[in-house]
Amino acid sequence: MTNVKRLGIVGSGIMGSGIAEVAAKAGIDVVLRSRAQATADAMIAGLEKSLARQVERGRLDDAERGAVLARVRGVTDLGELADCDLVIESIVEDLPTKKHLFSELDRIVRDGAILATNTSTLPVVEMAMETGRPDLVCGIHFFNPAPMMPLVELVRAITTSDATIAAARAFAEVCGKTPVEVRDQAGFIVNALLFPYLNNAVKMLEAGVASRDDIDAAMKGGCNFPMGPLELLDLVGLDTSLAILEALYAEFRDPNYAPAPLLRRMVSAERLGRKSGEGFYEYRR
Ligand SMILES: NC(=O)c1ccc[n+]([C@@H]2O[C@H](COP(=O)([O-])OP(=O)(O)OC[C@H]3O[C@@H](n4cnc5c(N)ncnc54)[C@H](O)[C@@H]3O)[C@@H](O)[C@H]2O)c1
Repeated sequence: MTNVKRLGIVGSGIMGSGIAEVAAKAGIDVVLRSRAQATADAMIAGLEKSLARQVERGRLDDAERGAVLARVRGVTDLGELADCDLVIESIVEDLPTKKHLFSELDRIVRDGAILATNTSTLPVVEMAMETGRPDLVCGIHFFNPAPMMPLVELVRAITTSDATIAAARAFAEVCGKTPVEVRDQAGFIVNALLFPYLNNAVKMLEAGVASRDDIDAAMKGGCNFPMGPLELLDLVGLDTSLAILEALYAEFRDPNYAPAPLLRRMVSAERLGRKSGEGFYEYRR
């Protein structure tokens, strides 16, 4: 299987919606599954807004806008994913929840289809082993915001076949992305390198070494990074960031990955970053 004509996406949060936009713009039919119809409708409304903005800015013509929208369907029934060529799950970063979903997808989605995870850190092999097709399971890890970020990490579990990686690579390229291949090890390439830095920025803030604004200004001005670490954590989502650090710490036991207590407290207080309206910064909703 090398040609994805119909893509299923499970989870319509930040990443699921972004991946839907990317694939639909690449000419692929998308079935996006949310648990509630209201969320599926909100995802379509968000896509409409994003495409309208692109038309206003002259990046998309009106006919193409209509064609992209017509390719995306929001559903609540997992059964609607049965005839997809590839399903990417992008639900909450929690291994038991993802494993359960993989066992359901294996039952529902047609034989021969690839089942992929957009996990940031979790072991792909554990999801693969919930299915009767572990050779057809891999990680396809997009970056946030998916429509803008060029990279996709292709994660090869020890069970993943060469044909599956080749098909995932072809899919990423059709989507206009630059794929890199990485072994199934927590954090893959990017997050394994990025998260000690982000975590240490929170520890620095917590210790009172510098203010929020000065930490972010320092890394933008001193390293030419487009965002400071605290801004970036708000973009990623503090709950997702905490889950990523916990998975990295569980794998490596490296103190740099031990989540900063402040991060944990902010998640408990439901300050999740942009998506909740407040994190290290406040956002208009
Ligand atoms: N945020 C990022 O920067 C980023 C980047 C790359 C990959 N990811 C990964 O993408 C995945 C989704 O992250 P996100 O940022 O879109 O999160 P999000 O919080 O925006 O969305 C999570 C989605 O999962 C759904 N969900 C929660 N519990 C569920 C359950 N029990 N069953 C089914 N669905 C459930 C929620 O309703 C929501 O739609 C995670 O695996 C995350 O690690 C995130």
